[in-house]
Amino acid sequence: MSGAGRFAELAAAVGASVPAGSGPGSAALTVDDPERMHGFGVEVGRRLGAGDLVLLTGDLGAGKTTFTRGLGEGLGVRGPVTSPTFVLARTHPSLVGGAPLVHVDAYRLGSALELDDLDIDFDHSVVVVEWGAGLIEALAESWLSITIDRPHGAGEGAGDGAADGAGGEADSADDPDEGVEPIEPRQVALIAVGGRWA
Ligand SMILES: Nc1ncnc2c1ncn2[C@@H]1O[C@H](COP(=O)(O)OP(=O)(O)OP(=O)(O)O)[C@@H](O)[C@H]1O
Ligand SMILES: [Mg+2]
Repeated sequence: MSGAGRFAELAAAVGASVPAGSGPGSAALTVDDPERMHGFGVEVGRRLGAGDLVLLTGDLGAGKTTFTRGLGEGLGVRGPVTSPTFVLARTHPSLVGGAPLVHVDAYRLGSALELDDLDIDFDHSVVVVEWGAGLIEALAESWLSITIDRPHGAGEGAGDGAADGAGGEADSADDPDEGVEPIEPRQVALIAVGGRWA
């Protein structure tokens, strides 16, 4: 059931607070490290169901995939959740008889029309769209916007710190999603848009 209080419940569950002067549909929290980002995703995922849409915004390396991996765990879908770099959308079926997770990377999409062409079954899925700001507005009327910021900036570039000495073998080859960003707090903003979260 949607209706009053759903967003407030979510915000309370993840320890977010409502910034002074903002309305009831926004909240913010600081997430100190990748484990907590994962845990934040788990808590969000536990509260999502068919028809829910999450719009995920954040720079390269902000923590979008780390968050979505937790979200998939909270939802109870089959992994692994990775950056959908070589596909535009990946569907993770539920392991618990619930809605599947559709994980969309809109980075290379130029228009809402192209996003629409993916024929996503929004009504029967939980949809997480990365890089979808500016596109999704034309296709949906309600969503949860989550923006992940690195207050300390982009840091030192994606580490090839120990590169040339060892014969060119990449030491992150077993997991391309991890291990290149220093652990630093992320500032996370939650905004509820439309009736499902009101
Ligand atoms: N507080 C934090 N929260 C989340 N990740 C963090 C945090 N501090 C450091 N990190 C690191 O930042 C990186 C986040 O990577 P992740 O793949 O989740 O980002 P992304 O936003 O999906 O990037 P991309 O746009 O390149 O796909 C990981 O290496 C993680 O260990
Ligand atoms: Mg990613």
